[in-house]
Formats: sequence, structure tokens, C-alpha cells
Amino acid sequence: MSDDVILSLHVNGEPQRRLIPAARTLLDFLREDLALTGSKHGCDVGDCGACTVRVDGLPRLACITLAAEMEGASVQTIEGIGPAEAPVVAAFDKHVASQCGYCTPGIVLCLAHLLSEQPSPSDDAIRDALGSNICRCTGYTKILAAAREVARGER
Ligand code: FES
Ligand code: FES
Repeated sequence: MSDDVILSLHVNGEPQRRLIPAARTLLDFLREDLALTGSKHGCDVGDCGACTVRVDGLPRLACITLAAEMEGASVQTIEGIGPAEAPVVAAFDKHVASQCGYCTPGIVLCLAHLLSEQPSPSDDAIRDALGSNICRCTGYTKILAAAREVARGER
């Protein structure tokens, strides 16, 4: 008996249809089947945010999501960012908010979601939005500075 399933979805705007093991995580599907390695393995248990992608616009932890659950969904990874996310990326560059970069894809996608819902979020709202994203390098100060700059349109 096969445990494979056919999955049809959009990833970064492109239609995808694949036969995958039913137990495959979304993170492994993206990294291994589609070679989209921007989403990272961190804790693999939903605690660090390194694997964050957007599913139908909402942040989602790909390490604890089954790919098979994504039937019909629209998934965005860091490879799929565009003009809407450009201000966040530019502010990260300016403030050197990415050091090793391991947390950066997840944080950028979380911030992009926040800013799509609240164009001018407060510092508390920014902290809440990034509450599940662990960064071992920056101390968060530079990330907050970058997010604040985008939020307040200071660029
Ligand atoms: S790798 Fe998914 S939350 Fe840590
Ligand atoms: S920049 Fe290294 S973990 Fe955040």
C-alpha cells in the first residue's frame, strides 16, 4: 500500500503538482523537492521560526506542517519575495539586521505579513509579530530598528 499523495499547490506563484510521501513536511517538500532552501531547518519542532513561510498570506511554520495539508494553497518562501517585501529587505541591509542570516528568511516573511495588515505597527506589535522567531546573532536591536524604519516610512 502506498503512502504517497498527489499534491497540487502554488509556490511563489508557480503551479506545482507532485507525488509526495504523505508524511513529508512542508519544509522538506520545499527544500528537497523544489530546491527552495531559503526556509531553514532550525529546531524542527516549531520553536524557532527559521522555517517560516507564508501560506495564503499568513506565516506558517513549515517544519510542523505536512505538505499534504497544502492542497490548493498558495505558499510564499523567501525566494518568492518581490516589490511588496523590498522595503523590509532594504532596511535589513541598511541596519545590518542580518548577520549569519539563518533567521532572516522567516523574520522577513513575518514582518512582511505584519506590514500587510498594519502599515504602521507599534514597537509592541513588531515584537509580537516576531515573538516566535529566534535570532542568535543580532540581539534583536538591529532587526527592530529595521522593522521600525519600514513601519514608520522613514526610508
Ligand atoms: S525549524 Fe521550524 S520552528 Fe524551528
Ligand atoms: S542573524 Fe544569525 S540567527 Fe539571526
